[in-house]
Amino acid sequence: MSGELRLLLRSELGALAKLHAQCFPVDPWTVRDFMELLAIRGASGHLATSPDTGIVAFILDLIGPDDAEILTIGVAPGARRRGLARALIADLSKRARQRGARRVLLEVAADNKAAISLYSSVGFILLGERPGYYKSPSGRADALIFGLSLSREVDHP
Ligand SMILES: CC(C)(COP(=O)(O)OP(=O)(O)OC[C@H]1O[C@@H](n2cnc3c(N)ncnc32)[C@H](O)[C@@H]1OP(=O)(O)O)[C@@H](O)C(=O)NCCC(=O)NCCS
Repeated sequence: MSGELRLLLRSELGALAKLHAQCFPVDPWTVRDFMELLAIRGASGHLATSPDTGIVAFILDLIGPDDAEILTIGVAPGARRRGLARALIADLSKRARQRGARRVLLEVAADNKAAISLYSSVGFILLGERPGYYKSPSGRADALIFGLSLSREVDHP
């Protein structure tokens, strides 16, 4: 696995959509969804790749003048618990800080224990809740809103 994170290429959107579907089987995003998001000013995608299996981790984010937002983040099931998500968040924090943003915001399903544990481990704090925000196998799930202050560095593995 390459330790390098790099910018997503347009030619990789099909492979990205496949990995996104593995990470989010209830509400996968299409190539068109990705294209529409990446057309927004300040949006970009970054990847970790492996020579054997291609894309193993991704983050799509939106960096604005004050706040950055994680639009989606995922790691292939076989590559989890190796620090890839933490590295992607550290990289976003660095890019956002360089562009003057002061916070990173995100929404996460209230029952997504792995993601909540990840965000808490890098310093995000709970800011609020959006009831019934997500599709879920049982209907709708609540979203939690987390924020990370960029006044300090995120620990990098
Ligand atoms: C959540 C997700 C992105 C984490 O990716 P990852 O690369 O495995 O995370 P990391 O290896 O960087 O983990 C960093 C820390 O997060 C926490 N963490 C990550 N996965 C965890 C899990 N399954 N259970 C408990 N804590 C977890 C731990 O504190 C971990 O540190 P440690 O391994 O030293 O204990 C990954 O599980 C995933 O893709 N899930 C499906 C998609 C998803 O839910 N995305 C987030 C939507 S908001």
